[in-house]
Amino acid sequence: TPPQQAPSQCMGPEYRRESEKPTATVSTQVSHDNIHILPQTPQLISLLTMIRDKKTDRADFIFYSNRIIRLLVEEGLNHLPVQEHTITTPLGTQYSGVKFEGKICGVSIMRAGESMEQGLRDCCRSVRIGKILIQRDEETSKPKLFYDKLPEDIADRWVLLLDPMLATGGSALMAVEVLKSRGVPEERILFLNLIASPEGAANFAEQFPKLRVITAFVDQGLNEKNYIIPGLGDFGDRFYTM
Ligand code: URA
Repeated sequence: TPPQQAPSQCMGPEYRRESEKPTATVSTQVSHDNIHILPQTPQLISLLTMIRDKKTDRADFIFYSNRIIRLLVEEGLNHLPVQEHTITTPLGTQYSGVKFEGKICGVSIMRAGESMEQGLRDCCRSVRIGKILIQRDEETSKPKLFYDKLPEDIADRWVLLLDPMLATGGSALMAVEVLKSRGVPEERILFLNLIASPEGAANFAEQFPKLRVITAFVDQGLNEKNYIIPGLGDFGDRFYTM
């Protein structure tokens, strides 16, 4: 499928006149129920503009990526179930709120997914974090599991799976198979990523319809080397080395 025409949208609060609002390219919308795209706000679009720019240096790339990761984690946490919880304030008045009761953990897909661990720690103090390394097998050119280290009780936890770019989804789909083989039900996995391709989103929707994908943006498509277009290049290289 050829890349879709990217939609434009006015940026800015509703009360502002249309003529005062700049337009920007916003996320392609997808029709899969389990793909959740962050609201396309001026803040999010400006952060994405920074990290997509080839002129952005490594320090800024890390800083602005971390802000988007933080938004993804906060949105991901909204998908966890909460129970009613009433407390008493220092004024002796009751407030009926909610509280999360379960256990969570993060699982990063190495190497690029490790860039998202700090953002998760910033929101969930002392969260357990596991790792999965999947690489292309030279002989079969299919993704292969090389290494994993996961909490023993992972089957009892909600899992936030971390990988910044969802291209074809080859490694992330295999990572989900690994989690399922350790007893994590699909519906207890949230896959957080910054930029997805329509192809990757569709693959997830088809293979794991009960897993939730939380993404900041669905881009136009993939090029012949399976890079996301317009994308931002190689996330791991830009975060760790460039
Ligand atoms: N991984 C990346 O880092 N970038 C892409 O465009 C696709 C996969």
